[in-house]
This record gives sequence, C-alpha cells and structure tokens, in this order.
Amino acid sequence: MAAILTIDQGTTSTRAILFDRQGTIQAVAQRELPQIFPNDGWVEHDPQDIWSHTADLCREVTAKAKETVAAIGITNQRETAVVWDRRTGKPIHNAIVWQDRRGAPLCRQLIDRGLEPKIQAKTGLLIDSYFSATKIAWILENVPGAREAADAGDLMFGTIDCFLLYRLTGGKVHATDITNASRTMLYNIHDLRWDEELLDLFRIPASMLPEVRDNAGLFGQSEISAIGISLPISGMAGDQQAAVIGQACFKPGMIKSTYGTGCFALLNTGSKAVTSRNRLLTTIGYRLKGELAYAIEGSIFVAGAAVQWLRDGLKLIHQAGETEALARSIAGNNGVYLVPAFTGLGAPYWDPSARGALFGLTRDTGIAEVVRSALEAVCYQTRDLMEAMANDAGASDTGSGGGNADLSTRKLRVDGGMVKNDWVMQFLADILNMPVERPVVAETTALGAAICAGLGSGLFASLDEVAGTWQRDRLFQPRMPEVDREHLYKGWRAAVKRVQNSPT
Ligand code: G3P
Repeated sequence: MAAILTIDQGTTSTRAILFDRQGTIQAVAQRELPQIFPNDGWVEHDPQDIWSHTADLCREVTAKAKETVAAIGITNQRETAVVWDRRTGKPIHNAIVWQDRRGAPLCRQLIDRGLEPKIQAKTGLLIDSYFSATKIAWILENVPGAREAADAGDLMFGTIDCFLLYRLTGGKVHATDITNASRTMLYNIHDLRWDEELLDLFRIPASMLPEVRDNAGLFGQSEISAIGISLPISGMAGDQQAAVIGQACFKPGMIKSTYGTGCFALLNTGSKAVTSRNRLLTTIGYRLKGELAYAIEGSIFVAGAAVQWLRDGLKLIHQAGETEALARSIAGNNGVYLVPAFTGLGAPYWDPSARGALFGLTRDTGIAEVVRSALEAVCYQTRDLMEAMANDAGASDTGSGGGNADLSTRKLRVDGGMVKNDWVMQFLADILNMPVERPVVAETTALGAAICAGLGSGLFASLDEVAGTWQRDRLFQPRMPEVDREHLYKGWRAAVKRVQNSPT
C-alpha cells in the first residue's frame, strides 16, 4: 500500500493531507495564511509565508505516515501571480491575489478598445482583473527595475502551483499545469500554447512563462533539503478543476459546485470548448491520460466569506455551525435579502464597482433574518449561474445559438466547507429545482490533486477506476412549491439590480 501527499494551497490557508489509495484521509496538517491589504481593493500574500508553511506542513504530515508515501499532488488558489528572479529564486514583490482589483483600470481600457471578443475567443475568459495577466503587468510596470530585468530574461512568473513546484525541486523545474495556465488570460485554450499576441498586448516577455503540462505526469522530484523527503511530484491542478476531478465529473454534462471563500461551479463540456453567451467563462477542465476536457465556469466571489463576515465582522455568531439552527428558526426570509457584493459582483454580472447591501429591513428584523439572508444569497447566486449554464448548455446541445437545457434532469455535485449545512443544501436544491448530491469525501479539491498524482505515478490506471470510487453521502431533492421558489428568486433579482452600477 502507498499513500499520496497532497498540498492544498488555498486563499486563506495551506494544508498538507495524506490520502490512502481508497481516498481516505490518513493525516492532515493546516496553517492559516496571513492576508495583506495594502490598499482599497488590493489583496496580497507573502510568497515566503506560502513556501515556509508548505514546507513545514509537508514535514509534519509525512512524519505521521503509516505507509510509504509514493507521490505528491499539488492544488492551489488559481490566478494569484508571483514573479521571482531566476538568479536568486527570490520573489520581487508579494503575490497578487485573485481577489485583487488593481488591474481594473487596465481592464477598462482594454474593454473600451473593443478587445473583449478577441480575448474571449482566445482564452475563454472575459476581461477582468481576476485573472493573472494584469497582475503580472502591474508588477512589471511598478516594481523598480522589474521591466529591465524582465527584458534581460531574468524574471520568472508562476501561479502558486508553479512557484511551489519550483521551490520543491530546488529551482530545477519551471512548469505549470494546463488548468492553471488557462486562468492567466495569456493562454490560448484552443491552440494550447501561450498566445504571442496577448503577451505583446500585456508587455510580458515569453521568457518569463513556465512550460505547460498535463495534470498527471512527472513534474519533478522534491529535494530533501526542501521538505525532508525526495518524492515524485506527479500531479497538479488548479483547485476548482481539482474539485471536478475529485467529484469524478468526467462525463460531459456533469456539474460540480464548490463552496469555499467563493463559489465556483463548473460544467464539463467534454472535448468541445463552448463559448458562453451568458457571461460565464470557458476554461480547461483537465487533461488526463491524453483526454482534454473543457468546462464552462461560473465564479462567485463571496460564499463562505459571507458567513465569515457574520462571525468576524458583525459578530452575530461565534461559529459557522450556528447558522443552520438560526436559519431554521424562522419560517421564511421575511423579505430580507443580502447581496454580498463585498468585492463587486462576479459571474454573470461582472460588476467590479457594485457593493454589498441588505434590503427589506423592518423593526422586527433580527439576527436570524440576517444570517438566513447570507445563506440564501449563496443559493440564489448559484441559481444565477445555473440559469446561465442551462442557456449555454442548450446552445451547445443544439449546436445553435438558442435553447435552454433542462438542468433539473441533472444533479449538482457539491463540496467545500458550507455543504455540511443541511439547511443550505435543501434550500439550494429547492431554489435550483435540481437534485443536489453531497459526497462522502468532503475534501474534494485535495482528493482531486491526489487522483492526479495517483494517475501520474501509475497508482491508478484509468479515469474509470477513479470514477468508480466516488461515493454519495446524501441526495437533497427539491421540494419547494414552484410559486414559492419563483417568488423568492424574483426578490433576489430585484435586490441585485439595486446594487449594480452597470445593470445586465
Ligand atoms: O479562482 C480562485 C479560486 O481558485 C480560489 O479558491 O478555495 O482558495 O477560495 P479558494
């Protein structure tokens, strides 16, 4: 028997997890990651924190291993950009995090120049500061000496997977995986290469970019000096795509939604890259064993973060677990809606300047209504995504520009911290009018990276073998009357309209 070590480097914490061959967790070590907010709308991480936490956690968890550790898999917060000097291996600036909005003015210029259709056609992405390109451009323009060093070929760029791989291998390998590459806004998802025209547009030299590889395969060997053990790194994937793999969504039409800091729903569209007509993203789902799958993605910036806000900002609760009983303590939402646009609105609205609001307050509004409105908002936002996806899937099923696919005949596989909350899961099924499936292994993202590493190191033979191990914990069937569902959702749509600066 052999175990796999997974590194899950997320936005708010880093974890090292040991999985056995059956996908059962043997040991976990975790550390919170400090968040740096240097300016309004700016979010940074110290790459040295990311590396030292990762190295410590790997040492800690491998010391607990009861069987031989066979390989390492890496999964990560996507889009977050690090630039370092190839001569010293030292970052020249903090990592600019996916939530950071400093690239918004450059994005506005590009949109005004009419470049969005071209960029969407090449990368599948809409122009937004969420993606890595404007973050790299900002570093090159603003860090003293960066432009000259980049032009001299002395700088390297990587998303967090790539930075960790570089450090784990003692600076020997500069590579990323295809899913992380597809989130940079520099990678052509049809030609499967870095796009020269986009590199010129953002003034990013090609010499800075990592080699792009499949999700499973030998990426490199960890150095003993780095984490105390020499192991093959044989799988890497961005966290949302890793969740697609961990949820075994290998067939076109399968959908998963992960509820972490934000919420990210991905619909597998198979070998076909479907261009969204509803402001969703086209992205690479995975490339495993020679099989390339595309996905349509809906990205919501605030999900679990709203519960964190109830706890840490408003201090209405002591811990997330209390929200379930509070939501159940009232029969309905009493007309209270929270639009948690704390950092603008993501898909399908893409309004960076929108801000959050609480509507429908009366003299008898209490903690229960406010808490329930935050949980409901996560479900309404998922419905926004599902409506857009149904439309896109309809267009792709019919091969034409129209038609709505009936997603209620499909099931939504869910994972992430919030899915423990049974009330949220039932409300989600009700609002979507779609069955919601919760798996036994809730650590789906890390499991996905372990699967990649297992496939890459020969521990698993095929995707079918992996798909056979997926197990359901519980199925939530919709049971809300149609008229109530539509009434509630109409209230949400009206609330969103009131916070938008550029209504869709
Ligand atoms: O695209 C951003 C996403 O990858 C972040 O995920 O789980 O770190 O919030 P998470």
